[in-house]
Amino acid sequence: MKVAIFNTKPYEREVFEANNTEGRHALTFLEPHLNPTTVSLADGYPAVCAFVNDDLSEPVLRRLKAGGTQLIALRSAGFNHVDLGAADALGLAVVRVPAYSPYAVAEHTVALMLSLNRKTHRAYARVRDGNFALNGLMGFDFHGLTAGIVGTGKIGEVLARILTGFGMTVIASDPYENPACTALGVRYVALDELLRTSDVVSLHCPLTPDSHHLIDTMKHGVMLINTSRGALVDSRAVIKGLKSGRIGHLGLDVYEEEGDLFFEDLSDRVIQDDVFTRLLTFPNVLITAHQAFFTRDALDGIVATTLANMEEFETTGRCRNAVTAASVARPGR
Ligand code: NAI
Repeated sequence: MKVAIFNTKPYEREVFEANNTEGRHALTFLEPHLNPTTVSLADGYPAVCAFVNDDLSEPVLRRLKAGGTQLIALRSAGFNHVDLGAADALGLAVVRVPAYSPYAVAEHTVALMLSLNRKTHRAYARVRDGNFALNGLMGFDFHGLTAGIVGTGKIGEVLARILTGFGMTVIASDPYENPACTALGVRYVALDELLRTSDVVSLHCPLTPDSHHLIDTMKHGVMLINTSRGALVDSRAVIKGLKSGRIGHLGLDVYEEEGDLFFEDLSDRVIQDDVFTRLLTFPNVLITAHQAFFTRDALDGIVATTLANMEEFETTGRCRNAVTAASVARPGR
């Protein structure tokens, strides 16, 4: 299939080329993000491949359709950035990568938890600077504490396995109970009970109109981790919680307004987002720039499934990994 791949980074291009055996698909790698200004680059391409920070709003979709595009292949699990209602109405197929490596995201979640607790990022800088003092580095045992997992799909389940291994009590909230989690001893509770009783809260549900700014009052001193989607938490409310001490630690791999920041080197620019820069000032906040998925295994899986999705659509006109407005109405599975 002739595909315009927007927003490509060198590390992705390498993996796409390695997986595109016998040049099955004609891949055009484009550096710009997909947005109303760049959309005309897709003219004449039946397939467009996009990432989480590309603009797939109604005007962009309409322009894609006018240019002859039939398929939007998302190289992500999340699809909250696509106007699915508009895509359905225009007859544009949207496919995604529902599963690649849930281990990548779950393990990064644990990396944030451990770094925030034991402050390894601060210790690293200190030791390199010849400062071997321990003041300010004291952590706590996760063993015996309660972890609350919001969303126990593929990633939440892997996290539940890891945290059970730490000796934590794991509780969960999800409209659909996952039998694999129940078998691990995970107890399902309502979201407000989870938030009230968990020492660590970790978010692993998709962003939908129902889950927007999902997080409410939590236990004093809670560790909140979000490796799912930024808008699950209200960043301004989180800043208030950090200032009052109600939130003891915050680990983010995603941010509500990350589209203007993440995946680019902005180190010589003045960041204009005051909420984000305020978050960076707290000693008990650790932010990574949407890298939870970023392992070799996950990237191989994302690219292999994206190419297979295109192949299936080209040969059958359908795809098992299609996503429509109806699948958002029934979140998750
Ligand atoms: P999944 O579809 O396997 O599981 C999602 C679970 O969330 C389902 O069990 C569903 O029933 C549940 N759910 C839906 N709405 C909910 C709500 N309001 N409250 C509680 N649970 C709810 O998805 P998977 O693969 O586990 O991924 C989870 C999320 O992780 C994705 O939606 C995506 O936003 C995020 N993600 C982040 C990545 C990163 O690099 N930071 C990479 C991949 C995914």
